[in-house]
Amino acid sequence: MLLPKKGLSKEELFKLLDEIAANDVDWSSGRVFGYVFDPGREPIEVAEKALLKFYHKSGLDFTVFPSLLKMENDIVDFAIRHLNGDENAAGTFTSGGTESIILAVKAARDYARKKRKIKNPEMIVPETAHAAFHKAAHYLDVKLVQTPVNPTTMKADVKAIEKAITKNTILIVGSAPCYSHGVIDPIEEMSEIARKHGILFHTDACMGGFLLPLFRELGVDVPPFDFSLPGVTSISMDLHKYAYAPKGASVVLYRTRELRKYQYFACSRWTGYTMINTTIQSTKSGGPLAAAWATLNFIGKEGYLEFAKRKLEAVQKVVNFIENHPDLELITKPEMTLIAFTSSTVNIFNIIDEMNHMGWYIQPALKYGKSREHVHLSINYSNVFKIDEFLDDLSQAIERAKMSPSGTLLKKVKPLLAVVKTIGLKGDTLFKLMKIAGLEGGKLPDRFAPINEVLNELPPQLREELLIEFTNMTFR
Ligand SMILES: Cc1ncc(COP(=O)(O)O)c(C=O)c1O
Repeated sequence: MLLPKKGLSKEELFKLLDEIAANDVDWSSGRVFGYVFDPGREPIEVAEKALLKFYHKSGLDFTVFPSLLKMENDIVDFAIRHLNGDENAAGTFTSGGTESIILAVKAARDYARKKRKIKNPEMIVPETAHAAFHKAAHYLDVKLVQTPVNPTTMKADVKAIEKAITKNTILIVGSAPCYSHGVIDPIEEMSEIARKHGILFHTDACMGGFLLPLFRELGVDVPPFDFSLPGVTSISMDLHKYAYAPKGASVVLYRTRELRKYQYFACSRWTGYTMINTTIQSTKSGGPLAAAWATLNFIGKEGYLEFAKRKLEAVQKVVNFIENHPDLELITKPEMTLIAFTSSTVNIFNIIDEMNHMGWYIQPALKYGKSREHVHLSINYSNVFKIDEFLDDLSQAIERAKMSPSGTLLKKVKPLLAVVKTIGLKGDTLFKLMKIAGLEGGKLPDRFAPINEVLNELPPQLREELLIEFTNMTFR
């Protein structure tokens, strides 16, 4: 792009933006089962108004915009109460689950450096824990020790965790629930082991932190996962998921203020302003914080309970459908609103493509560890109004998927993959692979099923290399 010599008119500009957006999924259609958490028009209008009102205020310095300090303290105070913390607990508003997790790992690393003189930190993370922990390990140079899960329940294997503890273990992680299968790890047992060994324990409640206490109020049997357990020392809870705040909203909480200190960063060794950052970002908009504050207060307890009730009903409907469908099977019984299902008779990647062509978005997940390749559904409030239509279309998509070809691309690229598996991605192999797959020039394919079938057969490290190469070619 070149800058236009003379700026565009507003009309031209917004027409262009509409054209640019023409191929995006319609996030407000209720037909998207992932990425989007949509509470409906009115709460969104309120959030947008609050977002714009505070968008230009900077969170870089809380002494200049005390409104941002006040709203952050309100949100953190609410979150601590929601998750059974006491007056010693503390927290931070962050831009999302990944930032909350990176900060919790940084706090654990720096705490262990200071208090336990640990130089080569390790953290124990079950196979089902979110990829953000791998990213944190990568960024912060912490060794990630992965432990298996029970192949039936998909919950963390407690014995394997205890066995993996070394003198360098700084943190053990559990999910409430994990993203992929929607089940809650045995947090009580896991955090007790951590406490016995003097190790910190993080509950990743990015998905469930807000919703699970509401489910409990509705009579669902939710096991303890929060600060009510003495071994839990930090928790991540996203607000841009089931609290329906617009994107850029999460909190990371600590059992004590003392522990939170290790998350902070201050710098006064340069020639500019003295910097004290509570988060990874330095300059940051006050908009997402204000929007989250407004959303929580606009929807309120009764509103959220009503949303939660409707989601419970919708999940039950989808689970019944899958359990009674001859071609589908649940990977495990979900405990919240995240569902993983697969098939032994139909290519699930074809089912996903068929659904996408019918205007739905459902998400593929490749096989890994104890988990088979599957379809992931995150059920949110806007989906509940479309569930019957969704299930009708899913029935049709399954029948169409049975007629679609399977394995053709995989057969074509097998000789090249054999080379890649032995000598790695060298020379123009990637280019050749992309050409065969119809991906040259960074263009996106019409059908993703053949690509997913190929990725599914590759070892994770090769998948990662391919994804990085492809993305590196796709972005300018
Ligand atoms: C359990 C869990 N943890 C962490 C994350 C990462 O959150 P974000 O995408 O907001 O960075 C997610 C995202 O789906 C999640 O489900």
